[in-house]
Amino acid sequence: MRDFTAAQMEEEARRLYALLGNVTDFKTGGKYTLEHCRAIAPSVLAVNNLKKENDAVILAHYYCAPEIVYGVADFKGDSYALAKKAAEFAGRNIIFCGVYFMAQTAKIVNPGKRVYLPPVTAGCSLADGIDADTVSKLKERYPDAAFVCYINSTAEVKALCDVCVTSSNVYDIAAAMPNERIVFIPDLFMADNIRAELKRRGIKKEVLSFGATCCVHDKYTVRDVEELRWAHPSVKIISHPECPLAVCEISDYCGSTSGMLDYVKKSDAKEFAVLSEDGIVNSLELENPSKTFYAVSRPCGQMKRNTLGNILGVLNNLEQAPQVQVPCDTALRAKKCIDNMFEMAGKK
Ligand code: 13P
Ligand code: SF4
Repeated sequence: MRDFTAAQMEEEARRLYALLGNVTDFKTGGKYTLEHCRAIAPSVLAVNNLKKENDAVILAHYYCAPEIVYGVADFKGDSYALAKKAAEFAGRNIIFCGVYFMAQTAKIVNPGKRVYLPPVTAGCSLADGIDADTVSKLKERYPDAAFVCYINSTAEVKALCDVCVTSSNVYDIAAAMPNERIVFIPDLFMADNIRAELKRRGIKKEVLSFGATCCVHDKYTVRDVEELRWAHPSVKIISHPECPLAVCEISDYCGSTSGMLDYVKKSDAKEFAVLSEDGIVNSLELENPSKTFYAVSRPCGQMKRNTLGNILGVLNNLEQAPQVQVPCDTALRAKKCIDNMFEMAGKK
């Protein structure tokens, strides 16, 4: 690691503090302090230098810690925006700060690049919720159905599906499928939300669902919403479509991570409760300093395995660090499924 002068480190700490001073440090419950920014400044400087020297780009999902999203990432985004960015990247190395299916997607859409996931095995309860064998059997059982998978799925599962979706385009893509029957995998709660939205739009389709739920968003209950409204009568409740349908239906806004950012930015309300991951609350706090966010978010333990330390580990050893690999045949078929999403989402 290159040596930085005390003055450079202090300047970086102050830059970080100016950026993150209003942001909650969910490890302590307080805000980011200047002391904390001094502690992380050397690693932030080192990562930013090494990535330039090594033709590397850092893509970070909003659920990563703020020092990653705002300190070292070249691009931050939700699953859809990051998949698009990965596809367009012309350099050599992609450091993907997220979970495994996201890094795998980056490799599939841009196979000539070296893709690294700093916490090599970071998983997702949804992607782990269904395997390719089960999907193959479902395809035999429902030969007339369109197979639509959430992007939170493995490459092997995507390779068997017609199209994948993210939370930012799921309803439009489901509505546009020509089939009367859709098999949606692997998010059972998002499937409930699809059925409800298709009904609202007056579209008749049978949506069958198989898989699992997100271990972060599935914990929210109607009672949580009622208690928040009782304690804070002016609060706007924001949820993600991975939450239970009953929670989404009584929320003031339910949508993707980037949709939440848009909603809060445009809203005249001053108080919000975000039934989602801690990281998105950090971004909301940073981008809306005059608004209040009540502490109801939860951490995704797997996303939080991305650290400045393991990013540095990768950047210091790009030749030996494990790269994300997807077998060629699987990658080609999974790419078709992702490209179909890009095409259908792009038509909007
Ligand atoms: P987004 O598609 O909104 O980025 O969500 C991804 C995710 O994993 C939510 O839990
Ligand atoms: Fe997966 Fe849920 Fe974590 Fe998103 S928040 S990565 S869906 S476990």
